[in-house]
Amino acid sequence: MNKHVLVTGGAGYIGSHTALHLVESGYDVVVLDNLYSGHRWATPDGAEFYQGNIHDQDLVGEIIRKCNIDSVIHFAGHIVVPESVGNPAKYYQNNVIGSLNLINACIANNVSQFVFSSSAAVYGIPEFCPVSENVDPQPINPYGATKLMTEWALRDFSAATRPFNYIALRYFNVAGAHIGGGLGQATPEATHLIKVACQTACGTRPHLSIFGDDYPTADGSCIRDYIHVDDLAAAHLDALLYLSNGGESTVLNCGYGHGFSVKQVIDCVKTVSNVDFEVKIEPRRAGDAPELIADNKKIKRVLNWQPQHNDLATICRSAYLWEKKLHAGKII
Ligand SMILES: NC(=O)c1ccc[n+]([C@@H]2O[C@H](COP(=O)([O-])OP(=O)(O)OC[C@H]3O[C@@H](n4cnc5c(N)ncnc54)[C@H](O)[C@@H]3O)[C@@H](O)[C@H]2O)c1
Repeated sequence: MNKHVLVTGGAGYIGSHTALHLVESGYDVVVLDNLYSGHRWATPDGAEFYQGNIHDQDLVGEIIRKCNIDSVIHFAGHIVVPESVGNPAKYYQNNVIGSLNLINACIANNVSQFVFSSSAAVYGIPEFCPVSENVDPQPINPYGATKLMTEWALRDFSAATRPFNYIALRYFNVAGAHIGGGLGQATPEATHLIKVACQTACGTRPHLSIFGDDYPTADGSCIRDYIHVDDLAAAHLDALLYLSNGGESTVLNCGYGHGFSVKQVIDCVKTVSNVDFEVKIEPRRAGDAPELIADNKKIKRVLNWQPQHNDLATICRSAYLWEKKLHAGKII
């Protein structure tokens, strides 16, 4: 079994949770992060940390050789959809060129296994939900396009390079905080609904906006598939195991296979926090699909992924408890 893992973006939200799971499972973990949106304190004790850029092929090569890296989990990237619409160059540069540089350095230094953070944003506005990996992806913003382009690069590099196998995990809406309580999302300017709702419950924001309540859904607000960050982290460990057992490269949806509306999520955060914060209805945002839910049959079959926290109240409660700690200044 491979034991030496490089985690790019391991000081960020999902990367830090995954790095913690890896350390707890006995992997040797090295984190590479430029701290653009991540935090040094978020990387777990026991992981080696390098502050640096995925674009820097010399540095990446040096880390791989020095630390005997055999697998890479690639989280590093920019993630804000509206920003990608206004500044596509920033996204193509970091998410596509950065990923290509990283992949090149991996292949040049004999890394044979690669797990990539892709996104449900590759689907754009799917015709049917739950959406399966067989659907032709049609991203509707530069962020989604950069994820799809990186998937395509991995497919082509993997076909041309043996052994170099990859798993691209298409995450749906990632939320919640580590069930152990010591870690959570600290992204500055986060736009994720559950994070923002918890900030509002804590009084960090004056109110919460619902963007559109006239969608063709039961209560008029958009429906999303929210997945607990610990279950997502576990999927990365499953992916590493699969690859080290000789599994073929593939693309997998990562979601629970059912959704909740924006209004249901807000009600849940109000219940777990016991705070009745103000909610405003705003106009729809361009490019929001009414519904986005994963068909997760493939990941369950291929990785034998068994989520442990498939419960909206658990997700919202863990996020709220973390947010309260952040708000009280007990973390940073
Ligand atoms: N959060 C979600 O709901 C979600 C959904 C789908 C996909 N994803 C993908 O998951 C990955 C992680 O997302 P996150 O929510 O943890 O975001 P995040 O912003 O918390 O983490 C990204 C990390 O990458 C680092 N980084 C960015 N550019 C870098 C570079 N050039 N070199 C080195 N480090 C760099 C940042 O400092 C940060 O620590 C991203 O690739 C994102 O596109 C996230």
